[in-house]
Amino acid sequence: MDFPHELVRRIERFAPLDKVADPLAGLVGKVVAPRRIRNLLSGTKLGHPAHPMLTDLPIGAWSMSTLLDTVGGVSAERAADLLVGAGILSAIPTAMTGLNDWSDTIGGERRIGTVHAGANVAALGLYLASLIARRGGRRGRGKLLGLAGLGVLMAGGYLGGHLSYAKAVNVNHTMFEYRPPEWTPVLADAELGEGEHRKVSADGASVLLVRDKGQLYALANTCSHAGGPLDEGEFVDGCVVCPWHASTFRLTDGSIVRGPASIPQPAYQTRVSDGKIEVRSLG
Ligand code: FES
Repeated sequence: MDFPHELVRRIERFAPLDKVADPLAGLVGKVVAPRRIRNLLSGTKLGHPAHPMLTDLPIGAWSMSTLLDTVGGVSAERAADLLVGAGILSAIPTAMTGLNDWSDTIGGERRIGTVHAGANVAALGLYLASLIARRGGRRGRGKLLGLAGLGVLMAGGYLGGHLSYAKAVNVNHTMFEYRPPEWTPVLADAELGEGEHRKVSADGASVLLVRDKGQLYALANTCSHAGGPLDEGEFVDGCVVCPWHASTFRLTDGSIVRGPASIPQPAYQTRVSDGKIEVRSLG
């Protein structure tokens, strides 16, 4: 078996996980629905997802506690215990941001995310037990539980890395898109009435063109969050709402009003020349 690729493929295809994952994802989706919660957990104001950054905290604290347990000696026991506790505390916001991101996944990605989350919850349980053992004076047991927690955490981390780097979950879906830097005609001006929108092509780039209150706006049509088609979304108050997970972008500049997107939508300049609407990338 081509381990671990084959193992990940099997998790991806393990449909019985859906019985647990789908209702839970639906519930998480409802909890994180309010805009402020969604933006906070998604890292909307940070400019990239919050979860990968937060994972450094428990991983760093717990792995260093194991280092101190192993080679630190008696003088490092207090520091090791402190790191175990800090890892437990930092795991809570890390898990909340992860659940938020996971609730937007589907199919194989959701199944891998479910096992990733399960492994991390198991690691948290082992570190909690480790802390209790340490406080109860059973240091040897506490060290062993911490070591087991680190092993489970690494397995969960592998799956998290697979989601990001192999499955492109929560990466910027406009990153590799070509956008013409020169003025490029995309549509006859007469073909776009007031309040209308069109998906057009600018040298192969998919562009959302909107005429709203006499102004022309153009954004990349592929949602930066997960690739949703913005031309199929709703248009409300000078914004477009993605049909997949309701990220909301201002038409003027692609800035984010509501997550889960954390990368602003690329915007184009627009003009009308010789009866044609032209766009060029804002860079
Ligand atoms: S694809 Fe997720 S909000 Fe657009």
